[in-house]
Amino acid sequence: MLNTAVFVSGGGTNLQAIIDAKKRGEMPSVSLRLVIASNRHAYALERAKNEGIDALVISKRKSESPGEYGMRLIEALKENEIGLIALAGFLTILPENVIRAYDRRILNIHPSLIPAFSGKGYYGLKVHEEALKRGVKVSGATVHFVNEIPDGGEIICQKAVEVEPGDTPETLQKRIMERAEWVLFPKAIEDTAAQILKAQEAEQ
Ligand code: GRF
Repeated sequence: MLNTAVFVSGGGTNLQAIIDAKKRGEMPSVSLRLVIASNRHAYALERAKNEGIDALVISKRKSESPGEYGMRLIEALKENEIGLIALAGFLTILPENVIRAYDRRILNIHPSLIPAFSGKGYYGLKVHEEALKRGVKVSGATVHFVNEIPDGGEIICQKAVEVEPGDTPETLQKRIMERAEWVLFPKAIEDTAAQILKAQEAEQ
């Protein structure tokens, strides 16, 4: 199995979906080794604790550079022999040294069909507000590899979800989470982990 870290900042419903998929036996290639939270108030930390998954709070300090923050993250990742990272609602910008150290090994879930409503400033409810403002009839979620461009890495998979008359940002967010994010993300993490393990075996 591939040691996997999930990075969180908030409620952690995607983390919960990953935990539940793992419990159902749907993620045989993945070992949920570590949760890293960007702040100590993230409810996701409770979810990790309830499952007995090791969790760390690693916040960016005002006094440090992105590189220094990245070094602290990399240290924790190496210590735990992490081979794959899933960003599940992680709101801190990931430093470049982490992105370089984990090339094609960091996945992010974004709550729209990229490239629509994505990039700098598009996070949380803002994504759904803009989708409704534009009047799209279909939105959804995207899992992609993380590179130095916000929401700009290679797309791994997408799932469309209908916008319904009378939707508010909140109802659209909820439908996209339930029908797309919580289904798509665990599967994409499993598939990517399986591919990495296969490539590692072929090398040996
Ligand atoms: C999700 O909408 C996800 O797509 C986005 O941030 C939100 C995180 O929610 N990247 P949660 O913390 O997993 O509940």
